[in-house]
Amino acid sequence: MSIESEIARRRTFGIISHPDAGKTTLTEKLLLFGGSIRSAGAVKSNKIRKSATSDFMEIEKQRGISVATSVMSFEYSGQLINILDTPGHKDFAEDTYRTLTAVDSVILVVDSAKGVEAQTERLMSVCRMRNTPVIIFVNKLDREGLPPFELMDELEDKLQIAVRPLTWPIGMGQSFQGVYNLHDRNVYLFQPGKTVVEDDRLLIEELEDPSLDAELGSAAVQLREEIELVDGIYDEFDVGEYLAGNLAPVFFGSALNNFGVRELLETFVRIAPPPAPRESDARLIEPDESKFSGFVFKIHANLDPRHRDRIAFLRVCSGVFEKDKPFRHVRQRKDVRFSRPYSFMAERKNVIDQAFPGDVVGLYDRGDLKIGDTLTEGESFMFRGIPSFAPEIFKELVSTDPMRSKQLEKGINQLTEEGVAQLFIQDRGRRKIIGAVGELQFEVIQYRLTNEYGAACRLQPLAYSKAVWITSNDPAAVKEFLKYRDRQIAHDKDENPVYLAESEWMLQSMIRDNPELKFHFTSEFKTSGAA
Ligand code: G4P
Repeated sequence: MSIESEIARRRTFGIISHPDAGKTTLTEKLLLFGGSIRSAGAVKSNKIRKSATSDFMEIEKQRGISVATSVMSFEYSGQLINILDTPGHKDFAEDTYRTLTAVDSVILVVDSAKGVEAQTERLMSVCRMRNTPVIIFVNKLDREGLPPFELMDELEDKLQIAVRPLTWPIGMGQSFQGVYNLHDRNVYLFQPGKTVVEDDRLLIEELEDPSLDAELGSAAVQLREEIELVDGIYDEFDVGEYLAGNLAPVFFGSALNNFGVRELLETFVRIAPPPAPRESDARLIEPDESKFSGFVFKIHANLDPRHRDRIAFLRVCSGVFEKDKPFRHVRQRKDVRFSRPYSFMAERKNVIDQAFPGDVVGLYDRGDLKIGDTLTEGESFMFRGIPSFAPEIFKELVSTDPMRSKQLEKGINQLTEEGVAQLFIQDRGRRKIIGAVGELQFEVIQYRLTNEYGAACRLQPLAYSKAVWITSNDPAAVKEFLKYRDRQIAHDKDENPVYLAESEWMLQSMIRDNPELKFHFTSEFKTSGAA
């Protein structure tokens, strides 16, 4: 098969939701359709449950599961579909943001009873930043939830995107009877308890068909009225608007009962985009360029305590990735080769010889790769769009045993390279400040520093509330600003100066009083919105 047809048949998407909306269940059903797994229960949830075991143990378990579920591939209708999983927990939002840089589209799962939840809104704002095409699946229609018209309004308002239903529910909860397919203009009736994949659903082709009244009773009349309203309210679905990230098609169903999932999948394979070009600091990189390029968006380290191995997840952006072929590690200005690159199918890892744009490859690495690294076939450019976001909670890392400060140094360097949190340095390296978005990240750091690196430390809370990067067209202005603000200035790992604000008010007044400076809320200065 030519590289063009390999690219054309790939669909790489991220699945996102607020925890418990049904992301794992839906993923599993999609894999069942693809024949990639045979039984339910094969996909483990990556969420952290509050339970009798301590959070640390849960985090460890979750890390193991995350590797297995990070990427799951299956074939459907001639397409090769890569699902990239994301942690639902808000404290690991950065991990999700980075994964979203490696996808070409997104499926967003919403719980019909809960509507749009906080985490969903945040994730959607990241999709909007990149104009990522989004399909919405409203789940758990077998439970009592919000009325569908209300849900549609809420999706549009809170997610700030135009919506267009492509299926419509017939009742909900106890009275859930199926979905009307607005595209094909037919009805599939729900048979509770049927969770099999085979097409054994009752199909009624015409909304006017009298057998619909026989099946549904008064619900048939209501359905006809609702569909008339839907047709009146919403414009025709426009694929171009979906691909531009302006319009989200909406599906209703029940992942657990496997209802509405096939409609979702069939539309997905019809409309979801193949691998898109990606911005680099030199030029736009097209997937069908003959030379390979890709970037690292995620790293998992020390899964096996006996080895110091890490798995780096690389998204192939152009050309063909090949086993044992020397590639350019642009940041380190050296050639690297990989003898055991992995692809990820659910339930197993396979060593692969080749990978194509849209694919995600797992690379074993001994510490050379970090998040955002670009590999090429010789050319020097770095992919953009893998920024660090301004953290909001800060703690000073204090060594409690000078004899073990080497372990601490190594541990914190590796963990921050893995993207667990961000490290800021003050006082020429003597003071280390860790910035994160959630408390759980600190728990992970403390636990892993102690258990994986044998370090001894404590984390002391600091009163900062935001770290923003500072630049200016006038280098003297930056120098002047840094001079008198010892305690508010730190440097990130690449030695970029960062202003640590104690409050939003302080930050806003700094921005107002220093018009010659630019304050950035993500580390990616050229494309980020400066304040
Ligand atoms: P997540 O990955 O988004 O966090 O959600 P997950 O799929 O784990 O689903 C969360 C809970 O919701 C699970 O129940 C799951 O069985 C249930 N669920 C998913 N889809 C549906 C649906 O369509 N209808 C109904 N009624 N429930 C659904 P749990 O009790 O938390 O876990 P489990 O013990 O059943 O696995």
